[in-house]
Amino acid sequence: MADTGFITDISASELRTIALEVAHEAGRLIVDARPDELLVATKSTATDVVTDMDQRAQDLIVRSLVDRRPRDGFLGEEEGDTHLGESGITWVVDPIDGTVNYLYGVPAYAVSIAAVTGDPRVEGAWTTVAGAVVNPVTGEAYSAARGEGATREDRSGRLTSLRASSVDTLGQSLVATGFGYAAARRAWQAAVLADLLPDIRDIRRIGSAALDLCRVAEGSVDVYYERGLHPWDLAAGWLIVTEAGGIVSGSDGEPPGERLVIAAGNAVRDSFVMRLEQAMSACNVTSD
Ligand code: IPD
Repeated sequence: MADTGFITDISASELRTIALEVAHEAGRLIVDARPDELLVATKSTATDVVTDMDQRAQDLIVRSLVDRRPRDGFLGEEEGDTHLGESGITWVVDPIDGTVNYLYGVPAYAVSIAAVTGDPRVEGAWTTVAGAVVNPVTGEAYSAARGEGATREDRSGRLTSLRASSVDTLGQSLVATGFGYAAARRAWQAAVLADLLPDIRDIRRIGSAALDLCRVAEGSVDVYYERGLHPWDLAAGWLIVTEAGGIVSGSDGEPPGERLVIAAGNAVRDSFVMRLEQAMSACNVTSD
């Protein structure tokens, strides 16, 4: 059953403030404490990397959240104590989204922190109440609280309300996407993209799903789609897009999840979904 998002002891706006503060703290750590030589390990495949800073940043986030909200639950990308807590709020955290960019020094990675209700381990059973995505290199801080809109604050403190794109034709749509770490998944994603590409303005592969979602919210891309996202890639950006007037969904009207996430401005969303479904069914490469 979908969660109603009802919370009693704290407002969405207070949760947004916490998400922002903690994301800034972790962002400072990953930039300031980055060693010249990162310790790198692999996870699901040889291309799925994790650095010692991912774990250090998550540990800092956990400590900071426990200080402020000891009864809340936690789900993070890295190793840690996954639990639902007692308050009805669970923090869903990606300490460095865009780890490969971080490893190579490409300035497109972010700390993503969301407060959700429901069970984020079960697709369709949770919803985001507040969230923040901070790029510690550019200083851009995106955030949203349910019903209160989405904003981007820059390094100088200038606050901008976000509005998703109003582009209404596929051919004029700049589309962001990403690729998973498994070879079979990538072969499928590339085949779908090859089918789609002639019908859109162009493609962007930025390397951080959380930042891709924020780009949809600010209208600096018109659409983002990807197969294989986890709740921590998605939780904060999902709300940031919807609070900016965009739509986030899965396929066939399902909630966004591992099979598919599509985030788009309202005007082009239906034609994009239709074209993507066509590309996926035309694709004869097997995906896992
Ligand atoms: C990855 C990034 C990437 C997306 C992958 C994610 P990570 O997250 O968001 O853009 O294409 O699907 O796994 O591994 O850098 O936290």
